[in-house]
Amino acid sequence: MVPHTVFRAVIMGPPGSGKGTVSARITATFGLKHLSSGDLLRANIKAKTELGLLMKSCIDQGHLVPDGVMSRLILSDLRGLGRTSWLLDGFPRTVAQAEALDKLYSVDSVVNLDVPFQTIKQRLTSRWIHLASGRVYNIDFNPPKVAGLDDVTGEPLVQRDDDTPETVTLRLKAYQTKTEPVLEYYRSKGVLETFSGTETNKIWPHLRAFLDKKLLAPREGVA
Ligand code: AP5
Ligand code: MG
Repeated sequence: MVPHTVFRAVIMGPPGSGKGTVSARITATFGLKHLSSGDLLRANIKAKTELGLLMKSCIDQGHLVPDGVMSRLILSDLRGLGRTSWLLDGFPRTVAQAEALDKLYSVDSVVNLDVPFQTIKQRLTSRWIHLASGRVYNIDFNPPKVAGLDDVTGEPLVQRDDDTPETVTLRLKAYQTKTEPVLEYYRSKGVLETFSGTETNKIWPHLRAFLDKKLLAPREGVA
């Protein structure tokens, strides 16, 4: 395990719980590097890399990518970041992945977004994303300034191929069987903090206060 003074965090929650949306706020507020497994896979698909082509059908059908593939991909990116504070989104998603991560890094905090499944289904069908950056919009909740275009680059937004109602149901099932045990794994290590609610804007102030305490308290007294 690498000794560290930097802050290493994981954000968890079912598909559509707002991990991407909240991660953008965390990175803007606290300056952590954001690494999203889903964004990384979608970038590979868009660039038609060998891995992207192999994984596309798996993702579109709502299945998880094999542990070995996913762990290699994320852990090599993490190494590339060096000694910096980061926030992992979408990884680890199985206990095997959590164990692979643990061999290299100790995680300081795991924030868990606990959002009811009924809320999620309705959200995902109105989600639009900017593929290159992973920026997330929602036509009801946070629409882009100009319909169909990314606020920052002006490039077109797209809907994800895995956001159909049938695939969302499969993704929620995979979450229950494969990912919920990861919550237990981190709970037993004493690093899990759960935030429950149906609205990102209501969860955010609590999450922000929690991270303020975790990240800023040790630096108190420093000008
Ligand atoms: P990934 O991209 O990680 O998808 P996911 O976990 O299914 O989560 P999402 O990105 O769909 O949701 P989110 O929680 O980020 O929510 P968001 O902020 O967008 O993974 C995709 C696939 O890749 C997986 O299914 C798997 O196949 C594969 N994969 C990835 N990682 C893997 C791993 N480690 N191992 C194996 N396979 C892996 O918000 C959702 C929507 O809600 C948005 O539209 C948002 O605007 C909206 N919203 C947020 N808050 C509100 C609100 N208060 N009111 C209304 N709408 C709101
Ligand atoms: Mg996401």
